[in-house]
Amino acid sequence: MRRTALPPETTGDAIQWAARRLARARLSYGHGTDNPVDEAAALVYHAAGFAHETAPASYAWPLAPAARERLAALVRRRIEERVPAAYLTGVTWFAGHEIRVDPRVLVPRSPIAELIEARFAPFIDPKRVRRILDIGTGSGCIAIACAHAFPAAQVDAADVSPDALAVAADNIRRHGLEGRVRAVRADVYEGLGPGRYDMIVSNPPYVPDATVRRLPKEYRHEPALGLAAGPDGLDAVRRILAGARERLEPKGILVVEVGDSQPAVERAWPELPLVWLEFERGGGGVFLLTME
Ligand SMILES: C[S@@+](CC[C@H](N)C(=O)[O-])C[C@H]1O[C@@H](n2cnc3c(N)ncnc32)[C@H](O)[C@@H]1O
Repeated sequence: MRRTALPPETTGDAIQWAARRLARARLSYGHGTDNPVDEAAALVYHAAGFAHETAPASYAWPLAPAARERLAALVRRRIEERVPAAYLTGVTWFAGHEIRVDPRVLVPRSPIAELIEARFAPFIDPKRVRRILDIGTGSGCIAIACAHAFPAAQVDAADVSPDALAVAADNIRRHGLEGRVRAVRADVYEGLGPGRYDMIVSNPPYVPDATVRRLPKEYRHEPALGLAAGPDGLDAVRRILAGARERLEPKGILVVEVGDSQPAVERAWPELPLVWLEFERGGGGVFLLTME
């Protein structure tokens, strides 16, 4: 195994050391971070076992020799194998909540987090939200954040992948939400059982197959099922839209992320009064549709 020079001794210097290496390597970001300094900090705090809340005081703390070795190995894997930082640390944050991740699930990064934090205002009265469905739950991030935002709601966290559901179930348990969030195997709506929802939220796969093959290497560490969605990227969206009428309550809302497939959605359903949402923290390609 090739060895890398050991990082400097203090936390702050080690962050700068790692950030310089990451920046030089011209990595692709977009898995929960968008710059080398944030990624470097995540790797340093993970290697050291320090809580992020200890910053900035901990910038002056020394790193144990074993932590410096661990950090060097993490930086090496990030650069040489292009492993997203969240898979190296096993953890990320979504709408302020800690979510465990591994390559069985997509790394959470949906702008839907911002909508959840705002409790989908002004599109729904939070007091009326009793049942929520998250289609393609992956790590469970959207379902879990919704359960925290709507404490009276029952949430179905649905995915077709048993591997993803195992991760979601673990996260649901860590959040103590087993009583309100159900990890359920379903192929879009098939397998859910009967009933309607006040909100259906989904970040489904929406990347055209040909585009998936051209994505940066980082994305190859993610499950293909979380990205690829047929020749036009709309396989999952088509089924979500087709079944929504039978699954939404009369005043219910449907919120779906389609990312760069927004123009394809607009072309495919010109008759639908889709509301394209805007985000303060960046991102887009999320539409909202009311049952009405
Ligand atoms: C883009 S990932 C989103 C994961 C998570 N919701 C998030 O935002 O990080 C899409 C998820 O949809 C799941 N999925 C793909 N096809 C599906 C289907 N037909 N029915 C249900 N889930 C599906 C994948 O397994 C994957 O976990």
